[in-house]
Amino acid sequence: MRYDKGTKELENWLIEEERFDAESLGKCEAIFCQGNGYLGVRNALNERYVGEKRGTFVTGTFDRFHESEVTELPNFPDTTWIEIDIEGSRFSMLRGKVLEYSRIMNLKNGEMVRTTVWEDTAGHQVRFSFRRIVSMEDMNVMAERVEIQPLNRDIEIRLTSGIDGTVTNTGTQHFTEGTRRFHSGRYLGMVCKTIQSGVTAAIHTGHIFSLNGDVREPELLPIIERRAIKVRSEFQLKKNEVLTVEKMTVIHTSRDLEYEGIEISDWETFLMEKGREHIEKACAAGYDILKIESAKVWREIWEQEDIRIRSEDPFDQLAIRFAIYHLNIMVKKDDSRVGIGAKALSGEGYKGHSFWDTEIFILPYYMMTQPETARTLLEYRYKNLYGARKKALENGYEGAMYPWESAWIDDGETTPLWGAADVVTGETLKILTGIIEQHISADIAFAIWSYYQVTADESFMETCGYEMIFDTARFWADRVEWNDTEMRYEINDVIGPDEYKEHVNNNAYTNYMVHFNMELACILIQLCRREKSDIYSRLNSQMDLSALEEKLEERRRLLYLPLPEKDSGLIPQFDGFWKLKKLDLAKYKSCSVVGTIYDDYNMEQINSFQVIKQADVVLLMQLLSDRFSEEIRRKNFIYYEECTLHDSSLSKSAHCVSACELGFEEMAYQFFQGASRIDLGPAMKSSDAGIHSAAMGGIWQCVVMGFGGVRIRDGELVLNPILPDAWDNLFYRICFGKAKLEISVERETVNVKNHGSAIILQVMGRKLEIKCGDSVTVGREGTATA
Ligand code: BGC
Repeated sequence: MRYDKGTKELENWLIEEERFDAESLGKCEAIFCQGNGYLGVRNALNERYVGEKRGTFVTGTFDRFHESEVTELPNFPDTTWIEIDIEGSRFSMLRGKVLEYSRIMNLKNGEMVRTTVWEDTAGHQVRFSFRRIVSMEDMNVMAERVEIQPLNRDIEIRLTSGIDGTVTNTGTQHFTEGTRRFHSGRYLGMVCKTIQSGVTAAIHTGHIFSLNGDVREPELLPIIERRAIKVRSEFQLKKNEVLTVEKMTVIHTSRDLEYEGIEISDWETFLMEKGREHIEKACAAGYDILKIESAKVWREIWEQEDIRIRSEDPFDQLAIRFAIYHLNIMVKKDDSRVGIGAKALSGEGYKGHSFWDTEIFILPYYMMTQPETARTLLEYRYKNLYGARKKALENGYEGAMYPWESAWIDDGETTPLWGAADVVTGETLKILTGIIEQHISADIAFAIWSYYQVTADESFMETCGYEMIFDTARFWADRVEWNDTEMRYEINDVIGPDEYKEHVNNNAYTNYMVHFNMELACILIQLCRREKSDIYSRLNSQMDLSALEEKLEERRRLLYLPLPEKDSGLIPQFDGFWKLKKLDLAKYKSCSVVGTIYDDYNMEQINSFQVIKQADVVLLMQLLSDRFSEEIRRKNFIYYEECTLHDSSLSKSAHCVSACELGFEEMAYQFFQGASRIDLGPAMKSSDAGIHSAAMGGIWQCVVMGFGGVRIRDGELVLNPILPDAWDNLFYRICFGKAKLEISVERETVNVKNHGSAIILQVMGRKLEIKCGDSVTVGREGTATA
């Protein structure tokens, strides 16, 4: 993999696969994934290979194939394949000779370009160029352009292309076979329906052919096979002639239109027709126009959001752009019926489900760059209250107990029950997170409050926020357990963020976050009573706020919060953590593959060691940093980092941000580089099931909240930037309230420019007011110049 082609204009925008390697098919499909938040298309090559995992996903089209399985995001019929036969033999880079090869993903305009010169076993040399975009302008559209040029002899070529409905989610077929139709002999349509959820999907495709730039209308042989519809065409190409095929795809579902309030009695007929009209339009526009329109949207995004890092290592610059690219294709910014999957729309991993990843790792990016998208995501959780209340009820609690994994807004818990094999017993491991990893309900309350601090979005709080904070607190008030001996409330039998420990009591992260949630609810109940009588009376009739406040006050006051131990300053991650055996972790820490501890020990054994999967106490001290002194945070960081394997993609970025805050900038830089390489690095297999969406938010957090030093303290923006040795300058933009800030960090100074409303903030310890259009430079010594 090469990370930059080096032309001036495109410096640090390109990622190149320089050599075809069947081993990294999955990785490239995922990291080069294209999309627009509605569609996500893995970057599978047009010709098929063993080991590939083709994938086209449409946000929120979840289906549950059978009651023994959980809801998952179905893999749509595929249109990215094209079979190319040259002189009767199939083009495949596993045969013949690959004389030239390059696949480049351009993060700036979202286009993938692959070029290759290939020689078949009979000596025909052919140059190919393949281009693909998923339109950012027209959500339903994907476009490809393939050019084929014989270099040393005339050739006969046969192309077969269309819609392939035989794709599955690793064996599970979510769609009916459906109806297939040729329209005007040129366009192909397939309308099918998800088995259980009944989402109707229409996939249309059309081809435009040209020879040396002149449009051709070759005879197309129609083919219908089981779950597939195709056309075949044949061409005689003279040496050096160029055959061009543009293949457009348009996808619609009943779900997108339901959102627009359209009610249709016969979806199949309606979508077949709608798709036909749309594919005609896309084909009339052609690849270049569609690409220009899409690139324009990308340009606007980058104008608002590009972050610039002047580093000794250009990879750093590329990594943050890579993260911003994916953060912009993983969410449909106006659809609050769906969250962000842990693998976004880039693979089947985690079945498209949303986790706490969104609120704690990804949301800060949207809050500070696209607040309306952050609101959409929190509105999803509001709609998800139905599922959260359902889960609480099923578990015998009041209030809102958010599912650990969520899909449809009303699904409730969707975590699968069974996972991988136990290396010791050979049995299937039970996945307990859906039952006892509960901190997500407090994480969501924390995220709502952070969003409000950044945006001051009162209308969100009034329509959704207060209710969610009260109802999650109501759940906790019911969930905590009274310990008669210790005379305190406890939270027992949970999994904290560290999933290498199950059935623990009083996980510090969970208890403190719950305390935060309950305390916040008390404060806001009082505020609503005082200042928002409408909201108060609406929510009061739903959950008796006075009684709730009383209960919360008592439980919060008596909730056990493990305190730093006197001598060491350490907080136990949970009851009994100090009694666990230490294990030499060198072997696992140095391994480039995560989770290798499972090759040696089973869960029961791992539970008995001081070995941690990901940031737990460290994350707690970052999120609620005002509760712990810097010395305590430092001591805990050092102790717990040593025991941490960083086996989750959520870990390194959290450590980077904390290390920045504690002044360990070089260590922070190592963590940043590690976080940046989770998907983009050399490991060939770790992204096969999709990119790690939390890691994308994490990379942004490393740069902006870590090195950029952005924090919110008592509702005020605080900037304490710190640069690693390798960086000379960091430039980023954030919004805070109605202020729009551009921040440029040099080694000795920080410059803040405000393009929005006036703001009072702290920069390196100095309190300043910056009016619209003003710019202030603050020196490390505390001097400020306007
Ligand atoms: C992590 C969780 C995370 C999940 C989805 C797991 O490996 O331990 O914290 O929510 O992956 O990304």
